[in-house]
Amino acid sequence: MNSLIDLTGKTILVTGASSGIGRQTAITLSEAGAKVILTARREDRLRETMGVLNGDGHDCYSFDLCDLEHIEDFLKKIVDRHGKMQGLAFCAGITEVRPCKMTTPEVLQRVMTTNFFSFFETACQFSKKKYSDEGAKITVISSAASVRPSRGQSAYAASKGAIDASVRVLAQEFMARHININCIRPGTVDSPMTRNLSEDSRAHSLEVQPLGIIPAKDVATMIAYLLSPAADMITGRGFDIEGGVYL
Ligand SMILES: NC(=O)c1ccc[n+]([C@@H]2O[C@H](COP(=O)([O-])OP(=O)(O)OC[C@H]3O[C@@H](n4cnc5c(N)ncnc54)[C@H](OP(=O)(O)O)[C@@H]3O)[C@@H](O)[C@H]2O)c1
Repeated sequence: MNSLIDLTGKTILVTGASSGIGRQTAITLSEAGAKVILTARREDRLRETMGVLNGDGHDCYSFDLCDLEHIEDFLKKIVDRHGKMQGLAFCAGITEVRPCKMTTPEVLQRVMTTNFFSFFETACQFSKKKYSDEGAKITVISSAASVRPSRGQSAYAASKGAIDASVRVLAQEFMARHININCIRPGTVDSPMTRNLSEDSRAHSLEVQPLGIIPAKDVATMIAYLLSPAADMITGRGFDIEGGVYL
């Protein structure tokens, strides 16, 4: 147990827990003592994550977060079984790199729905008294792409920019219930999302990110900190972990 980041007694929902940053976040939160509720679409991959968690009492649910109308039912199902939650780590997301001429309305819709609308709906439902305790905390993964322009990323950058902007407003709205909400803007992280990039793209990432590819564990540790009592006084902020990409 890491005594600086103690999540004992907290039930935390982790989206995107079947892969990459979400999977590592679930592991790190469990190591800090949390009971972790995992979600993503691929149930077999969620079960694999469950198998490497520390402690017990964890659970997993397969769910498509683009099914916006059923997000509240989904949270209700979790709370009926596990009680109210004290944390949400929103790590689900997709990337689509295309020049604007190939960014059709369907592409925009898909990226915005997966990365932003699903986050917004989940966070707003989570903030209700019936699903979370006062003092609960939310952390969502945005991206350095929301700040630093990169060709072909207009849909992705817009979806992450929407997260950054909404976090500042939601922090004000959630303050009445002492629910803190923050986002993290990583540069290129070592995960299946970036392992599938072409050699050229990876080489470019290394060129512009002088400290190297970021280990998923570093992002997960920052999430654990922001969900812990150590971050009681932090809300509405965006935190960069970007390997020097802005320099
Ligand atoms: N990797 C990077 O370099 C990097 C940099 C900056 C920001 N980020 C952001 O960090 C987050 C995690 O990325 P990652 O690198 O860990 O990617 P990843 O390995 O591809 O994982 C993405 C996760 O999102 C889930 N997901 C996607 N669509 C979903 C949907 N419709 N419903 C439910 N779950 C869905 C996936 O699960 P299923 O497929 O099983 O549903 C998977 O668990 C994303 O928001 C990404 O934009 C990543």
